Amino acid sequence: MRHQPLPPVGTFEAWRDAARALLLARVTPEEVSWSMGEVAPDLFARDSPLPDAEGTVTVPREFLQLARQAVWHRDPERFARLYTLLWRVQCEKRLIGDRGDPLVAKLNAMAKEVGRDKHKMTAFVRFRETGDPAAPRRQFAAWFEPTHFIVEPTAPFFAKRFGDMDWSIFTPDLSVHFDGTLNFAECAAKPPFPEDATEDLWRTYFRNIFNPSRLMPKAMQSEMPKKYWKNMPEAGLIPELITTAPARARAMAEAMPTIAPARAARVGEAVRQAQALREAGQDAFEVALAGCRRCPLWENATQAVPGEGPLDARLMFVGEQPGDREDLTGRPFVGPAGQLFDETLEGAGIDRDKVYVTNAVKHFKFVPRGKRRLHQNPNRDEIEHCKWWLGLERERVQPELIVAMGGTALESLTGSRRDILKRRGGVEALGDGTPLFVTVHPSFILRIPDRVRQEEERDRFRADLERLRSLTD
Ligand code: URA
Repeated sequence: MRHQPLPPVGTFEAWRDAARALLLARVTPEEVSWSMGEVAPDLFARDSPLPDAEGTVTVPREFLQLARQAVWHRDPERFARLYTLLWRVQCEKRLIGDRGDPLVAKLNAMAKEVGRDKHKMTAFVRFRETGDPAAPRRQFAAWFEPTHFIVEPTAPFFAKRFGDMDWSIFTPDLSVHFDGTLNFAECAAKPPFPEDATEDLWRTYFRNIFNPSRLMPKAMQSEMPKKYWKNMPEAGLIPELITTAPARARAMAEAMPTIAPARAARVGEAVRQAQALREAGQDAFEVALAGCRRCPLWENATQAVPGEGPLDARLMFVGEQPGDREDLTGRPFVGPAGQLFDETLEGAGIDRDKVYVTNAVKHFKFVPRGKRRLHQNPNRDEIEHCKWWLGLERERVQPELIVAMGGTALESLTGSRRDILKRRGGVEALGDGTPLFVTVHPSFILRIPDRVRQEEERDRFRADLERLRSLTD
């Protein structure tokens, strides 16, 4: 009996080269015992150098595809099974397509299990920041417990997806480190990770994309098996979400005539959070806003997003409502619309750091679509309820001029958005006499599909802001 050890990294290539050499030397499957690592599993097996491989071996493409996947299975017989199949396909030309053959069926099932495990790894790895967030390349690490030996074949996915940061994934078998290139090392125990401040955000985000009326606990658990939960911050919420889902779904359908117990508990939780913030000495306005329950939008949003800027700003810009990015970061105009806003401000010679930027509505309104959250316009009631906060911001800042960007801001500030395009570029007087300048919302420009028209609108927006600057100079 000959023993054929294979390395834990580069395993597939090593198996392929060894199998080719053994096949050319007519070494039968029964004469080889395979292992990964150094130790021979069979007491009577002896390591011997591979025979010199002269000649070529041809195999069906399907065999190679199958071998490339099944070779990562945890089954100790995987290498032997693959070599037996390779041996047999030399004479049984149609064997690889015969799903009724027990060996072919077994290897296909193994390949499928590996494929599923790889998918789980791409979906369930949760990184924690381990380095200085201000460093040019940020550093992250994760612990993951795959079922099969899938670190090596899955690592390129992470390298592509997170190419701009340094990261490591540790597993009980192997660890992989990326700093521009992939490096593998053996690993055994979970290293100590720092507590991650972003975990709470993850949990809130997951809570928000969770749609109780679509709950299918069985499907959910088969997609996200329990064994992965302990390394996923948001998974701790799943039992609670599953238990409360029917009640929440019913409550949603009936538009909540009375406060449901689960909701009451969460209101209590939010109030406790607001108290904690107050104790930590955070700005009273922001503390109060964080606990806002004036309309139902707070329930699904991650957090209320207050305005940002100096309290002695001469100019106040009012947008519609936070978008997906703003909701996650807690800051206004930091997503795609914010980027266009920033560029246009700069082009018009206005310093964003010197103006106050806020929204008519402080919570993100959206509908979940899979993992995405699609923006929805706030309705009249929501705008009306949120006017309270905008009013407080106006009192705090007392700007010399307010800019309404888009219909929602205009409606909130003047009670009507009618004829917005006619009112654009004009200055109106608000109830307290503060002048109001009217322009469009940057998202309106981003939604224009025609590039030429979009360019024209960008220019018009910049011209509006330049005029604004001349009004305040
Ligand atoms: N759109 C808005 O109106 N406000 C934001 O903060 C972001 C996008």
